[in-house]
Amino acid sequence: MYNQLQSTRRSFLLNAAQLSGALGLAEGIAPMFGAEPQNCAGPKTPIPVKWTPDNNPILPRLPASTLNAAEMAKLRSAYAALRNLAVTRPNDPRGWLQQGDKHCWNCGGGLDGQAGEEIHGSWLFLPWHRAFLYFHERILGALINDKNLRLAYWDWNNAAHRAVPPAWVTPNTSVNSLFDANRSAVAGSQVPNSLVGPAIMNPILAAPTFANFGGSSNAAGQLENGPHGAVHIWCGNTNLSSARVDMGLLDTAAQDPIFFAHHANIDRLWDVWLKAATTHKNPTDSAWLNHRFTFWDEKSRLVYITVADVINMSNNLRYTYGPQIIHFPFNLENPTFLRLTPDSNRNIILPDQVKSRITAANSVNQQRLTTLRVEGVTLPPNAKGIYRIVANKPSASAGEITEAPNDLNQTPAKSDSEEMQ
Ligand code: C2O
Repeated sequence: MYNQLQSTRRSFLLNAAQLSGALGLAEGIAPMFGAEPQNCAGPKTPIPVKWTPDNNPILPRLPASTLNAAEMAKLRSAYAALRNLAVTRPNDPRGWLQQGDKHCWNCGGGLDGQAGEEIHGSWLFLPWHRAFLYFHERILGALINDKNLRLAYWDWNNAAHRAVPPAWVTPNTSVNSLFDANRSAVAGSQVPNSLVGPAIMNPILAAPTFANFGGSSNAAGQLENGPHGAVHIWCGNTNLSSARVDMGLLDTAAQDPIFFAHHANIDRLWDVWLKAATTHKNPTDSAWLNHRFTFWDEKSRLVYITVADVINMSNNLRYTYGPQIIHFPFNLENPTFLRLTPDSNRNIILPDQVKSRITAANSVNQQRLTTLRVEGVTLPPNAKGIYRIVANKPSASAGEITEAPNDLNQTPAKSDSEEMQ
């Protein structure tokens, strides 16, 4: 019976990941796995009020695998406070399980089949999860009274960061607030190249339209159906054969703190895709832009936020993704100088004319030196950041993805990049 159930589940998960239009994740199907909620409706709701942005500093979310001891400790204390809130005030809508249930509610519901608006499998996927992470980030920050807390992202598409980020699995016990008992992935487990390597990621980041990349009004995009679902299933249940499946099921996925690091990367890849080519654009349909989502904010107010609100990520939601990749236009005879601010996040593709000069400089005259002067680099006093200045390889074309996992995300060849701290 148990085995039979497992093999049913196994094929269901595999099918879900493979069939187009499927979510890539299973909805709750078996009460004996994990702690699937019977009902995940939130508290009875007052009329939501319009969300407005705060004026917290705009700070980068950093790669989860590179957090220093202080950053790790801050994140852990916030998650500890969030878990504690669920115990001391179980009805607080900001609590840990309430947040997991919010995700459950918007993706098929609990075992009783009661559910809210479905936000997977369409163009709502990226903006809803961006908003979900934003309120999660604000709540975590509020609980430790720190406006500077930002989530971290698990950039599994970077070959050097394929392992589950150490902070989440070391130690891999409940003394660590980032641990989840219903997670199969352990310290050192690496997401296979076949799920998130360049062969998968490059075509997704080169997807010509938002519909291809992020979904349309009635279908999921490649990011959701591909690596998003695959990493969920892999984290929850590496071999699709154990009961530690939280991340692998839609109704329990957000009960694992790794959910938020995984989704921060999904959110970041949206930004990467937008910046990868001038033709990559968000939808302009008002049905999308005006779509409202409802969340509990850090002050326990029920608010609504629109897609138009969340697409303005740094101004409205007060975060960026670091380390930042900045492309400068420059002219070999008359260099233009750019003044950077901590929020600089530019991706400017070099004109072909300039690019051909660089190729020539590279291949014809090895002695010729092109100097790039960068002025006004400042970082906020408590923040860590890297400005990475990247000159494309001579073979790069204007539309080429600048964050190919086998290129910039790995240690670049010295001649291809300079880093300044
Ligand atoms: Cu709402 Cu990654 O799923």
